[in-house]
Amino acid sequence: MKVLQLGGNGNLGSRVIPALLAHNHAVVAYVRSPQKLRDILPQSVVERITIIQGDSLDTDAVADALRQNNCDALVNTSGTRQPRGQEQNLGKIVASVTSAAIQVGKDRGRPVRAWIIGGMSSLKYPGTPYQIQDYMPASLIGHQRGVEEAVKDLSTSDVQWSLLCVAMMSPAHEKVQALAEPRKHNFLLQSGTPPAWQDHWIRYVPFIGVYLNLVPTISSYTTKLEDVADLIAEDLSKQKSEWVGEFVGFKAPKEEKSA
Ligand SMILES: NC(=O)c1ccc[n+]([C@@H]2O[C@H](COP(=O)([O-])OP(=O)(O)OC[C@H]3O[C@@H](n4cnc5c(N)ncnc54)[C@H](OP(=O)(O)O)[C@@H]3O)[C@@H](O)[C@H]2O)c1
Repeated sequence: MKVLQLGGNGNLGSRVIPALLAHNHAVVAYVRSPQKLRDILPQSVVERITIIQGDSLDTDAVADALRQNNCDALVNTSGTRQPRGQEQNLGKIVASVTSAAIQVGKDRGRPVRAWIIGGMSSLKYPGTPYQIQDYMPASLIGHQRGVEEAVKDLSTSDVQWSLLCVAMMSPAHEKVQALAEPRKHNFLLQSGTPPAWQDHWIRYVPFIGVYLNLVPTISSYTTKLEDVADLIAEDLSKQKSEWVGEFVGFKAPKEEKSA
């Protein structure tokens, strides 16, 4: 596939680019600072991609990038939680990017495939009728609610979206690496709720246990950025993805890859 990657200068986006290449996708990187991207990526990766300067909030520019480069798919890793006191614009970014995808899909008569990055807080809290975010402070998850609002009612006949519901990610390698072959994640994946959920004993403390349980339990969903990048790139290789229109939870098996 030809993939528009938005947010390549970030922690995840910079790892998504080599993962896409390793899965034989063509990559168009859409970033605010092309020079920063050239500095982050290995030269062998830079040589294999097209770089476009732009802001993800500029819907027309995103649509032009998709159209002019004949991209079939996009991965949005652009935008993140803003510091306290500043407006959370992640929802606006996702709304802008998905609107661009919808426009282009309508023009072509074929919807664009899109992976959007959201938070694990958008998943259902197992054993309750609520979402995880309903048990978390608004200051921590407000930006993720914006993402969820921007995608949840989109029709998959307009844009073939999937929302990847991420907990915490850490790098396996400090610097971005070129990949001779795919890294091969081995995540468990599940739609709507986190896979392999195991409550901590603290959940059974009356009244507050359901809140306190989230701290140790969510930390067991920490993953490596490079594996998350591989998940996305691998899925884009499929003719038909089972994750279209889904909030996707995922977890590394107990023996997390160390490198
Ligand atoms: N990292 C985690 O553990 C974690 C956990 C849960 C969810 N997430 C979500 O996963 C996504 C990626 O995370 P990350 O760690 O890779 O974030 P990151 O390192 O902060 O990267 C975000 C990137 O978005 C770019 N960006 C921001 N506003 C933009 C705009 N208007 N137009 C174009 N680019 C823009 C930034 O570009 P500049 O370089 O130009 O500033 C930055 O490179 C985020 O949505 C984050 O909320 C991350």
